[in-house]
Amino acid sequence: MSGIRLGVVGYGGRISGMIQGVFREIAADLQVTAIVDPDEAGVRARLDAAAAGRGWARDGGGVADDVVFHRDVDAMIKDGHLDALAVGTRCNFHTPIAVRAAQHSLPLFLEKPVAVDMKQAKALETAFEGSSCKAVVSFPLRVSPLCELARQYIEEGAVGDPVHVAATNYVPYGTVYWEAAYRDYDVTHGLFLQKATHDFDYLMYLMGQPIVRVAATATRGHIYGGDKPAGLRCSACDEVGECLESPQNRRHNSSGGSTADHLCLFSVDCGEGHRLNEDASSALLEFADGSHGMYTQVFFARRDAGTRGANVSGYLGSVSFDWYTDELKRVRHHAPFSAVEKASGVASHFGGDLELARDFVALVENGAAPRTPIETGIQSVYACLAAKQSAEKGRFVDVRLVGQV
Ligand SMILES: NC(=O)c1ccc[n+]([C@@H]2O[C@H](COP(=O)([O-])OP(=O)(O)OC[C@H]3O[C@@H](n4cnc5c(N)ncnc54)[C@H](O)[C@@H]3O)[C@@H](O)[C@H]2O)c1
Repeated sequence: MSGIRLGVVGYGGRISGMIQGVFREIAADLQVTAIVDPDEAGVRARLDAAAAGRGWARDGGGVADDVVFHRDVDAMIKDGHLDALAVGTRCNFHTPIAVRAAQHSLPLFLEKPVAVDMKQAKALETAFEGSSCKAVVSFPLRVSPLCELARQYIEEGAVGDPVHVAATNYVPYGTVYWEAAYRDYDVTHGLFLQKATHDFDYLMYLMGQPIVRVAATATRGHIYGGDKPAGLRCSACDEVGECLESPQNRRHNSSGGSTADHLCLFSVDCGEGHRLNEDASSALLEFADGSHGMYTQVFFARRDAGTRGANVSGYLGSVSFDWYTDELKRVRHHAPFSAVEKASGVASHFGGDLELARDFVALVENGAAPRTPIETGIQSVYACLAAKQSAEKGRFVDVRLVGQV
């Protein structure tokens, strides 16, 4: 197929980056022809910036995005003559739009988390039962070459039966969860859904089975959040001299985060109680065969403290990797051999975004089965919701399984 005609719902930062980057890397003549987004001016600015970056104006030569704006997804599918659909809205809109998409057969690229609460997750599962719509869920970690290599070694018996997994995620860019729109709890519903949805997904993939029970805890309000006034920005704050999050101190300390004027991370706007993104949260995970693991995510890590990866072990050996160092280590427990492999290359989401693009284009062009179908997105949400509930109630919570009646 030449010239994939893509309709996009929510043409924001993430999906425009995917389309203008990796989608076009795989399908150079892919065109965005239709968009649903209430912020038409913002979308046009993004399209123009992308066009300028590629050396032609929106209405000039080359493969430009000549888009028609539609009022809703149904109208766009009816009138848009589309080959495929992509959903890049914020988290709480993914389900309602995907439920509409499930009534059609257009291939779908769906951002994560695919749902933000149990009602949405169940509605999404129901909508896709018997649907001819096939989705690629945007889980770059699972399909990243490093994770695929780890899974390959595990499948080949490098650890024997996997019995345990320890996974960490020290997020060095975590300030976005208090200074950007992610701090709106009604949109994100906390950082298990926002962040761990990726990790729970790839952990289930590595272990080859679902998470069935979770015990979790979360620490909130020790670092971020607070009682600074609503809407406060650094430019109006008299503490920028000492505040480690002020643009000048971030610049001076090379501590990362936005160095432009930004919203206060210690503001009442960040929420309170359970409705405040957690500084750190952790989960004990029980898998279907009784093996278990732990996952911990820390959002105040900075600079070289960033790590993300897992150590899967069994009687025969262990396989561990870290996306930040791009390194995988295999240890044979009963022979004097260990091996370290170093991946090369720098790519968005550790090469995972490019793999997602490959899957999506293959689905659109040949109907090829994606590696992250809708069930993976829903199953991960069920595990995240169990973790969220467990942290709130202080007890183990069973994870609903896709297909469970
Ligand atoms: N898979 C990943 O690794 C990854 C990485 C980053 C972000 N994300 C996800 O991508 C999503 C979008 O994040 P972003 O940073 O691009 O946000 P964004 O705010 O830049 O984009 C959201 C877009 O949706 C539009 N929108 C709002 N309401 C709408 C509606 N009712 N219908 C249609 N469009 C609507 C907004 O105008 C905006 O253009 C989030 O859910 C986030 O979790 C995923």
